[in-house]
Amino acid sequence: MAFRPKDKHSLLLFSYSKDKASNSILVKAKYLLYIFLFFSLWLFLLFLCFPPSPDLPTPSAIAGGAGGEEDDVPRPPEKCDPDIAPFYIYDLPTRFNLALLRRCRSLNIYTDMCPHVAHRGLGQPVPHPLSSSGGAADSPSWYATHQFIAEMIFHARAERHPCRTLDPSSALLFYVPFYAGLYTSSVFRVSDHALRDALAVDLVAHISSHAAFRRRRGRDHFLAIGRTAWDLMRSDAASSPDFGANRLLLLPEVLNMSILTVERHPWKGDNQFGIPYPSYFHPFSAAEVAAWQAEVRRSKRSHLFMFVGGPRNATDKAAVRAEILRQCGASDRCLRVECKPGSPKCHDPERVLAVMKQAEFCLQPPGDSFTRRSVFDSVLAGCVPVFFSEHTAYTQYRWYLPGRAEDWSVLLGPDRSSRIEEELSRIPKEEVERMRETVIEMIPKVTYAHPNASRSALGFRDAVDVALVELTKHVRSTLHEA
Ligand SMILES: *[C@@H]1O[C@H](CO)[C@@H](O)[C@H](O)[C@H]1NC(C)=O
Ligand SMILES: *[C@@H]1O[C@H](CO)[C@@H](O)[C@H](O)[C@H]1NC(C)=O
Ligand SMILES: *[C@@H]1O[C@H](CO)[C@@H](O)[C@H](O)[C@H]1NC(C)=O
Repeated sequence: MAFRPKDKHSLLLFSYSKDKASNSILVKAKYLLYIFLFFSLWLFLLFLCFPPSPDLPTPSAIAGGAGGEEDDVPRPPEKCDPDIAPFYIYDLPTRFNLALLRRCRSLNIYTDMCPHVAHRGLGQPVPHPLSSSGGAADSPSWYATHQFIAEMIFHARAERHPCRTLDPSSALLFYVPFYAGLYTSSVFRVSDHALRDALAVDLVAHISSHAAFRRRRGRDHFLAIGRTAWDLMRSDAASSPDFGANRLLLLPEVLNMSILTVERHPWKGDNQFGIPYPSYFHPFSAAEVAAWQAEVRRSKRSHLFMFVGGPRNATDKAAVRAEILRQCGASDRCLRVECKPGSPKCHDPERVLAVMKQAEFCLQPPGDSFTRRSVFDSVLAGCVPVFFSEHTAYTQYRWYLPGRAEDWSVLLGPDRSSRIEEELSRIPKEEVERMRETVIEMIPKVTYAHPNASRSALGFRDAVDVALVELTKHVRSTLHEA
């Protein structure tokens, strides 16, 4: 039986009752078969054109494309890591994230952030430091990433994460993608405290109006912040200096949430968890990481120790800095990358890594606060970090550090920091090699993979995956206790 045009049309409109001739059961069965075949073909074509993918486009040209365009090759759906609970990402009004980026020039009172917020926070691509085994030219893995931009990279990774769910009722974790660090640095100089806190207060009002928040009073919600917690914990005590902080992390609703931050408050940050500062490597695959690990493993380390950084004026921390600069300058076994204000050398990934790769130990005194991005640069370079405070890493990055501090780092207390060279040269060669190997093995965990990396190609847990695994455990146990 041939279809007349009219029949075909009615078939498409699911209105075959109009066809008076199709009374017999046989004809009905044929119709159903045709419908079935038609739909199968249609679904098949649909699948070819739009393979299932967990990511949703985010409308932002400034953000460098959120992965709206897909690769031409259909990919199988990525599997969610069984140790990560399904998480929901709030679709916040853009004033809390993407709209902030539109005024990137004023987001930080010291720096024009426009180049740094590009490529979803990865920043500007830089040449592959390993030219022989470079990644594909069109998908760079090395960027001059800004130290305070983890929140954007986290967001980009989370959006394409296979454990993301679009259905809040099936989520255990709730991610609130507020760019709190960028907001913070943009209002450092606002003298009116109410104005300075306004966006934080606005965010809390917005979030706490959701049923999903009220259900567990925010205990299953989290923020990821690319700046230190200190910047969001202003104390209104008369004695404390106003260095520009706001009060986001002290708001009652936020005290119930989990806060991922590059520097937690060591004493008041019970709900704060340290996440790595982003370094420069944003790989797509485990093979890329392995190639880099091999490179730093065979790097010739001509110097015992090195220091990258400048002097500081802040009272207590300045003394350690000055002492380190003096000792490094006095030793021909110390390499120094001096950071003068306005000098770009300290932010040139190639230069920083090249120097770190030539040293056995990298000195990591506190900077303006306890922590430093440089710690993660030195891990990436396979350079054993030397700390002068337990709060530079040990009390910060519990989720990321190997068991024993002495397996991968050196802590020089006040009694030993006056003779750095002597202390470091006393450590046996084999011991240094063991420590370095532990440092090199930390690289995948503390690295922020490229947001466009697929989980199957990545094949390891990066900084974001580790955070999600640990958050899953944490939220499960708090909900269990409650
Ligand atoms: C991710 O891939 C998309 C599509 O290929 C591209 O437009 C976007 O720029 C990529 N994102 C980054 C951060 O490179
Ligand atoms: C925080 O959690 C506690 C305990 O679940 C609850 O009593 C309190 O009301 C919560 N605070 C807010 C602001 O929801
Ligand atoms: C430290 O203080 C001196 C003089 O008080 C000033 O010239 C210099 O810029 C300050 N350095 C930093 C890094 O703030």
